[in-house]
Amino acid sequence: MILTNLSRASAPAKVVLFGEHFVVYGSPAILGSIDRRIRVSAQIIRPPQIIIRSDTGFSASFTVNKLDECETNMSEAQKFTYPLYFATHEVIRGSLNAKVKLGVEIDIHSDIPYGIGLGSSAASCVATVAAVGSLFLKRDRHWIFTRAHRAERLIHKSSSGGDCYVSTFGGLIYYVTNGKNRRIKTRRSVSLILVNTGIKHSTKALVSLVENFRNQNTSLFDDLANSATHICDQAALALTEDNPVKLGRLMSRNHRLLETLGVSTVETDNLVRYCLDSGAYGAKLTGAGGGGSVIALVPDECKTEFEYKLLKKYSYQCIPVQIKSYGLLKY
Ligand code: MEV
Repeated sequence: MILTNLSRASAPAKVVLFGEHFVVYGSPAILGSIDRRIRVSAQIIRPPQIIIRSDTGFSASFTVNKLDECETNMSEAQKFTYPLYFATHEVIRGSLNAKVKLGVEIDIHSDIPYGIGLGSSAASCVATVAAVGSLFLKRDRHWIFTRAHRAERLIHKSSSGGDCYVSTFGGLIYYVTNGKNRRIKTRRSVSLILVNTGIKHSTKALVSLVENFRNQNTSLFDDLANSATHICDQAALALTEDNPVKLGRLMSRNHRLLETLGVSTVETDNLVRYCLDSGAYGAKLTGAGGGGSVIALVPDECKTEFEYKLLKKYSYQCIPVQIKSYGLLKY
């Protein structure tokens, strides 16, 4: 059944405030949705094809009758958009009788930089599933999250689901893979400065680097994971108590754990130190690491000078980000 010919959805980027990588192995993480979004429109078309276009210039087309395998002879655009195709195909096949020959065209507009730890892949999966799903039936957030996570797993198979979860539900989330997630309430909105090193990373490669580390250093990994859990629990308290000094200290401690795991780089470690010397309460890498971005918690009165100092020394892009409560929006 077709509900409408055109539907739109948007989903936010995220920052991981605490617990990345350890969350893959059952420790908690704290993630927040931020004020940068990806917008997707989905439209029913006559040819039985799935066409995916993005404002970054790529365009890929796939068949709808059977699920195309992701093959080496695919174009770069097809490989890149394969998880979105997979999710769209799953939604269409679950909604339409196989005899109905229709396709869907998807247009993506994003203001989330790619490959710097802001969860652009997860947000695109969430917004795509929501937009395509709404063509056929009203779907709840849980339905959307489950399918978006399945698609994201094609990018890195051990994904914790944290990125898709926070992009779907929004806000500041204490996330655990066992499903015991909760919203963290704060007295005021948390704002951070995100420093983009411009070094792009592959989440998949970094997650497998951590897997190797864990296999070779089992008891050290367990100790680090216990510390990460403790830090997350303390951070959840610091957030509700509105204690930025404690929160900052915990961020810097979390960064040192990530340094030990080997997902940080010399540039990121130097940058974290420079953020602290420039007045931040705390700083850490956010997301998978391997370059990407650093988040710094900076007192309001120091923000202008902080950004000036960073720009002068590194010419890295500083992006002020605010944790926003809006997750997925359908319209
Ligand atoms: C990536 O944003 C966060 C990681 O912990 C991976 C995951 O949770 O799936 C590195």
